[in-house]
Amino acid sequence: MTAPAAGPVDAEDATQDALTEADAEQADVQAEEEETDAWKTREGAAPASIVACPNGPLLVRGDFEIVTPDGVPVPRDRETVALCRCGGSAIKPYCDGTHKLMKFDTARRRPVPAPARKAAEEA
Ligand code: FES
Repeated sequence: MTAPAAGPVDAEDATQDALTEADAEQADVQAEEEETDAWKTREGAAPASIVACPNGPLLVRGDFEIVTPDGVPVPRDRETVALCRCGGSAIKPYCDGTHKLMKFDTARRRPVPAPARKAAEEA
């Protein structure tokens, strides 16, 4: 049996590895939380922190509340949640993994439509 040939690192593979690491980290955190449920008491809860995952969701952990534009609390059952920032999730505001199917790329810039650009310039 021969060892696989070493070659250049594929950018998509590297991105997928980063996402897999973020998913694994979130799974570990969730497993810890399910064991203790201590975060629900909010006593001694850490301030909120946000991690922007490369080409993926925002991981939010700590003491925070999610509310709708009308101020209605959005239920959550975990201390750490993944918030969609690709716009493709079917369970917004939470991430459902659709960003992987969309090949969401946080480095890609979208052109600003001409009417919006003109309005911004006139403001
Ligand atoms: S960021 Fe994951 S579905 Fe949008």
